[in-house]
Amino acid sequence: MLSGKRILLGITGGIAAYKTTFLTRLLIKAGAEVRIVMTESAADFVSPLTLATLSRNPVIHNFKKQEEHSTDWNNHVELGLWADLMLIAPATANTLAKIASGQCDNLLLACYRSAKCPVFFAPAMDLDMYRHPSSEKTFKTLESYGNLHIPVGVGELASGLDGEGRMAEPEDIVSFLESHLRKGLPFTGKTVLITAGPTYESIDPVRFIGNHSSGKMGFALAEKAAEMGAEVILITGPTHLQAQNASISCYRVQTALEMHAKTQEHFKAADVIIGAAAVSDYRPVSVYDEKIKKKGASMELQLTENPDIIASLAQQKTKQYIVGFALETENEMEHALDKLKKKRLDAIVLNSLKDPEAGFGGERNKVTFIDKNSDIIPFDLKQKSAVASDILNEIHKRINP
Ligand code: C5P
Repeated sequence: MLSGKRILLGITGGIAAYKTTFLTRLLIKAGAEVRIVMTESAADFVSPLTLATLSRNPVIHNFKKQEEHSTDWNNHVELGLWADLMLIAPATANTLAKIASGQCDNLLLACYRSAKCPVFFAPAMDLDMYRHPSSEKTFKTLESYGNLHIPVGVGELASGLDGEGRMAEPEDIVSFLESHLRKGLPFTGKTVLITAGPTYESIDPVRFIGNHSSGKMGFALAEKAAEMGAEVILITGPTHLQAQNASISCYRVQTALEMHAKTQEHFKAADVIIGAAAVSDYRPVSVYDEKIKKKGASMELQLTENPDIIASLAQQKTKQYIVGFALETENEMEHALDKLKKKRLDAIVLNSLKDPEAGFGGERNKVTFIDKNSDIIPFDLKQKSAVASDILNEIHKRINP
């Protein structure tokens, strides 16, 4: 959820500021870009150098930059507009009260005033300060501005008292941000199972039957589904690709039988299944223990049929919306419609090897989405990530009519 998100982290002067080192690290690990603005007193609690190193960006607290008489200054408007979200953590009683009363006497507050993005605040104060009636009033005021309140934790406080007022733990702050970002996304609460890549069917210890599938289409679908809020189970044959989004659980297999077994394991959890893998239809009857020696001018290899993974899942279907792919070289539409019916799928994505630049290995694809009611939606040649969006949007329309 946080991957690629631009986060403006505002740190104010409370002891919980030391936890922003962990918080920054977690945000960076989640793929976010982080810029930090501190109040003067925050720097008494945590070192700007540590935070600059962790965030990979200079930490700022002043309008003025170091260079004397520079025309270049820390522009709160630019920072406010840059951010996809602003997080004030820890948010002290002082800063919260200043926001609530409209004060703007430091760079952090000016950034807050300039931010057009959602603003989250994670209060941190001692027990009695937290319990003071003005706290509740301040929180309500900020909430009325549309700011999002990350509730405090309960436990030991810096004063030695025990109770409410601790800043939420960094992990909880990250989860809070993630669940907010996930809300309202089309696939939130859905699990999408995707097969990708080729399968390798061993002949002997060094040879196999495979195909030219790169896995790029399946991985693009996985990334896009995760961006659209889904939990993704990606089951892939051999490929060098790596899943980036933390919502993708990636399982690597070699053969069609292994892919079949893995899909069976995860089938029940899935709401949507997309078969983007180029599964080998056949495998050698037996795998030789030793490398086969060259003998004569010809040789025969006996093959046996692999299970049709997507068709076997469609047979066990309960709630799942099941989509296959059809890569055709001739009579494309006829063959795709035939597969849709025979495999008892809800929809099929047709791509033709006749389309220049489309299909295996490349960065782009040209597909037609066909559902079981013979609704046919052709798309232009596009980057695979845009193709993935088109496919997932068509699925979404059909599972949420
Ligand atoms: O029959 P064909 O291989 O053209 O069908 C393609 C569709 O069926 C794809 O969605 C592919 O992932 C799936 N398939 C499968 N198991 C097989 C063969 C194909 O799941 N053994």
